[in-house]
Amino acid sequence: MVSYKELGLVNSRELFKKAMAGKYAIPAFNFNNMEQMQAIVQACAETNSPVILQVSSGARKYANQTLLRYMAQGAVEYAKELGTNVPIVLHLDHGDTFELCKSCIEYGFSSVMIDGSHHAYNENVELTAKVVEYAHKYDVTVEGELGVLAGVEDEVSAEHHTYTQPEEVQDFLSKTGVDSLAISIGTSHGANKFKPEQCTRNADGVLVPPPLRFDILEEIEKRIPGFPIVLHGASSVPQDKVALINKYGGALKDAIGIPEDQLRRAASSAVCKINIDSDGRLAMTAAVREVFATKPTEFDPRKYLGPARDSLKELYKHKIVEVLGSANRI
Ligand code: G3H
Ligand code: 13P
Ligand code: ZN
Repeated sequence: MVSYKELGLVNSRELFKKAMAGKYAIPAFNFNNMEQMQAIVQACAETNSPVILQVSSGARKYANQTLLRYMAQGAVEYAKELGTNVPIVLHLDHGDTFELCKSCIEYGFSSVMIDGSHHAYNENVELTAKVVEYAHKYDVTVEGELGVLAGVEDEVSAEHHTYTQPEEVQDFLSKTGVDSLAISIGTSHGANKFKPEQCTRNADGVLVPPPLRFDILEEIEKRIPGFPIVLHGASSVPQDKVALINKYGGALKDAIGIPEDQLRRAASSAVCKINIDSDGRLAMTAAVREVFATKPTEFDPRKYLGPARDSLKELYKHKIVEVLGSANRI
């Protein structure tokens, strides 16, 4: 058993309290390799933003749990070397079993998500409560989920979304004791969040997706005032990155994300954590493809992973400063 406290990590409790009071959201960026981790730490150190480093179960399989934990410990030390003391949370993203959450807690994670949203309500309650009971013994914070997001990921899939039912949230909180709640109000995982036929076109001919269901969010806020809400599937799918990928041989079709003004609005409400993974994948892929296409004789991985890391850092800084509002909040 390794306590996250020995690694210099923090749980999410204080960060969410401050985010709620200050009307901003903490960035939760997924990582599974060194360049992503470096980009996250550099971006947060340069903007003085707290951060949640997220590891999905797929990432854990890919990169090895022990290595990831040491990387997170390394992130804490690296941030200090860069001259800041940014609070860093190591969080399990979409944990699906009690055993996985327990194992992450034992390996030094400071926060876990138990995603019981695909189960029937009572099973979700039972599973989530069991994880909370275990996690709280070690002062590890727990995120639960109510409602189902649409979209497909390696390990996370749902054909259609079901919006969170505001009538269920109070009961869920009191029966489980979770520290934060992920909700479904129209976001979804991946780079194809909407079909073009679901969108309208603005004056410039750009596709505009249907707005998030802020009415549901407001109803939830009324029922559980001051409680930290989490938004998954919050990538904006920057069209310049999509265009670059396709220019250099990619074939991304109908890639549409959540407009950033919608996320800014969410960040100033009870939404205290915003999850972004796909945008980082797009930024890295665009940069790597550009090097491959324009420098065909290059074969040193640092020559394409380096630009990918730089592009990722700029993307994260943009999210922190312009979208989430978490800069200078440490
Ligand atoms: O919500 C899921 C994250 O984007 C992680 O995706 O399971 O492919 O690592 P992954
Ligand atoms: P995106 O696919 O929109 O980046 O969402 C990531 C996420 O929710 C991770 O849990
Ligand atoms: Zn998610």
